[in-house]
Amino acid sequence: NSEGPDAKNLRVKLVLLGDSGVGKSCIVLRFVRGQFDPTSKVTVGASFLSQTIALQDSTTVKFEIWDTAGQERYAALAPLYYRGAGVAVIVYDITSPESFAKAQYWVKELQKHGSPGIVMALVGNKADLQEKREVQVQDGTDYAEKNGMFFIETSAKTADNINQLFEEIAKRLP
Ligand code: GTP
Ligand code: MG
Repeated sequence: NSEGPDAKNLRVKLVLLGDSGVGKSCIVLRFVRGQFDPTSKVTVGASFLSQTIALQDSTTVKFEIWDTAGQERYAALAPLYYRGAGVAVIVYDITSPESFAKAQYWVKELQKHGSPGIVMALVGNKADLQEKREVQVQDGTDYAEKNGMFFIETSAKTADNINQLFEEIAKRLP
């Protein structure tokens, strides 16, 4: 797999949004460090991490990740982090309909105030908790399709679909 003529080095600002407790920080920790912390602390303000991945054609993508705080008291800070972002990853917890409603709020906010052409992904996390599922796969699929978003269910705990999430985003970059 040599470096083809189309190989590029891309850099993109990515923001994670969603209710407190849905697993945003755990998704980032799994992606960047390959770890899971069952005692993950709530994020205060936001935290920043970066990670570079290589695609099939040797293109590399450096994700500059802003992991925002989901608690309501931090909601007013969100525009500072999604401003200029090329990618928004909007996360809910498949065991929480309230978090799915909050995800839809963020989608609308970004449609109004996000960068034009922003790539948006809808993520149903905690897919390992099947017996507690309250948001159906079809609900996520349908909402994402209506809003022109990429959809995936993940588990930061088991690592299921975490790398796939970021690879699929990378493939969709302009
Ligand atoms: P804020 O920082 O407050 O916005 O929350 P957050 O979205 O960053 O949540 P965080 O990543 O801190 O995870 C919250 C809780 O959910 C922690 O107790 C995690 O261990 C748990 N958790 C996160 N991802 C998963 C998952 O995929 N499966 C299961 N079972 N638990 C998870
Ligand atoms: Mg967090």
